[in-house]
Amino acid sequence: MLGELSFYRLVRDDLARVEAVLRERPSGQHPAIGDALEYLIGRGGKRIRPILVLLSAHLCGADMDRAVWAAAGAEMLHTATLIHDDLIDGSLMRRGAATLNSRWSPGATVLTGDYAFARAAYLIARTGSVPLTRRFAETLMVICNGEIRQMFDGRRGEGTREEYERRIYAKTATLIALSAEAGAILAEVEGEAVRALRTYGERLGLAFQIVDDVLDFVADEKTLGKPVGSDLRQGLVTLPTLLFLERHPDHPTVRRAIESPSPEAVDAAVRLIAGSSAIDAALDEARRYIDQAVAALTPCPDGPYRAALEDLARFVVDRRF
Ligand code: IPE
Ligand code: IPE
Ligand code: MG
Ligand code: MG
Repeated sequence: MLGELSFYRLVRDDLARVEAVLRERPSGQHPAIGDALEYLIGRGGKRIRPILVLLSAHLCGADMDRAVWAAAGAEMLHTATLIHDDLIDGSLMRRGAATLNSRWSPGATVLTGDYAFARAAYLIARTGSVPLTRRFAETLMVICNGEIRQMFDGRRGEGTREEYERRIYAKTATLIALSAEAGAILAEVEGEAVRALRTYGERLGLAFQIVDDVLDFVADEKTLGKPVGSDLRQGLVTLPTLLFLERHPDHPTVRRAIESPSPEAVDAAVRLIAGSSAIDAALDEARRYIDQAVAALTPCPDGPYRAALEDLARFVVDRRF
């Protein structure tokens, strides 16, 4: 699947090194931590964030040894957010396997997530880049802040499009933007290229989360590897629901699912929205962001790495998982 795509082929060897770093077990680390991380990391995942770091590093001529550390750090940070996200969401399945929180106590799950955050910081620090380490810390602050805002303000009513965009920017686009600009930061290229890659990553990240939110309605659970319908089940209104409600503000099926989310009410609303024009409208919105992402790359040097970043952007909206 992924292996045949241009953006993957170009960094295959670097990515193999990233995988090896991700599986390293620092001496003294309790085997339970290594087993838990290996279990989650070994189940795959698309590796979008490390691929972005590696492509951006090649594009900007960064040292690839340092880029491998940064790429592993980005994926480890992503892994840590998934561990905590699944605990917070009460999700039982990720990448087609049982989540850590479904097998372990909340305490052990939190601590393993914390360990993964610390390991991510260590990997980023190994690059020796203070600017990248600072951007990494800022990114994590934005992600946590966004999750707290969603928790305290986001589950009351449906919110606005602006609130939705702010939320998906915080939770997803920041890390994807950091991954895309990491190569430019490591290569210490000035000005325009860093901004171009950052804008590319931000737009790509917004599209990425919109597609994730669409897949939560329309995906095949087996292919997706995680439960569908889970956002509405948690009372979380995402773009497909927002767009549906713009067209049918008082639709009783959707109102009921948001206000009293019984399993039956949620199933009915998910089916309704999944079969409505709100899905294509949401995907159109994602495609607009992708066009902006690709356009942002104009100042970057032409060639295979830029072409791969463009292909990756197209993949994000066409994906089924
Ligand atoms: C899932 O991310 C969490 C979101 C930010 C939407 P991915 O879709 O990148 O998950 P994996 O790594 O491929 O499993
Ligand atoms: C997760 O977003 C974002 C972070 C991990 C910070 P979702 O909650 O939509 O991700 P999934 O759908 O569980 O992968
Ligand atoms: Mg989740
Ligand atoms: Mg989701």
